[in-house]
Amino acid sequence: MMNVKVLTLFPTFFDSFKETSIIKRALDKGSVHFEAINFRDYTLDKHNNVDDTICGGGAGMLLACQPIVDAIKANRTPDSKVVMLSPQGKKLDQKLVHELARNDDIILLCGHYEGFDERIRDYVDEEVSIGDFVLTGGEPAALVVSDAIIRLRDGVIRSDSHEDDSFENGLLEYPQYTRPVAFEGKMVPDVLMSGHHENIRKWRLKESLRKTYLRRPDLLETRKLNEEEHKFLQEIIEEEKQSR
Ligand code: ADE
Repeated sequence: MMNVKVLTLFPTFFDSFKETSIIKRALDKGSVHFEAINFRDYTLDKHNNVDDTICGGGAGMLLACQPIVDAIKANRTPDSKVVMLSPQGKKLDQKLVHELARNDDIILLCGHYEGFDERIRDYVDEEVSIGDFVLTGGEPAALVVSDAIIRLRDGVIRSDSHEDDSFENGLLEYPQYTRPVAFEGKMVPDVLMSGHHENIRKWRLKESLRKTYLRRPDLLETRKLNEEEHKFLQEIIEEEKQSR
């Protein structure tokens, strides 16, 4: 069982996420528990303030220590992984998704306004960014992280349906087709209709390499290629030269 708690000022943000498709099914089955909890439930002042002006001046408001830290303390267990969403965090990729998904108990902190009082970071195990851009709050980022980790948990989707996903083997996924075999003159590649499993495997590997070479050559810089992959990549480089 995986327990995901999102601490946020806007719990309703997550309503449609909980009620839709694969995530809904995972929650209904009980393989995942997902809960969005309001920081405001932990304020001690009579106005339920969670934010305050910034010391030293400047525009905007910051989430203050007391309600945020109390919310963390009230919801974490000794096994919890407390993750702050922020553009200053480690950039999310599928490797980090796998690491996060290994935790049975995860707490996601969503900032809003100008962000968090710096001292809140002392109560956090990991800070994660979903990319080099700035959102109005951490909620869309927490949604992205929740979705990506929940789908990797046992029984949520068939494991053979994520083995070939983009990034799982360091490459983009190969092109895929469904019927009809001909659509507006565009054909499904013959090999995929041949029933020849070894040829299909080779085609998929080569086309996966081609997509990666054309769209994300940076992924090939760090990935080791075996002999077969190396041969395919040389062929692709020649073929792409010819077609230009
Ligand atoms: N909050 C605001 N921008 C963010 C980002 N890029 N990633 C994670 N949390 C954020």
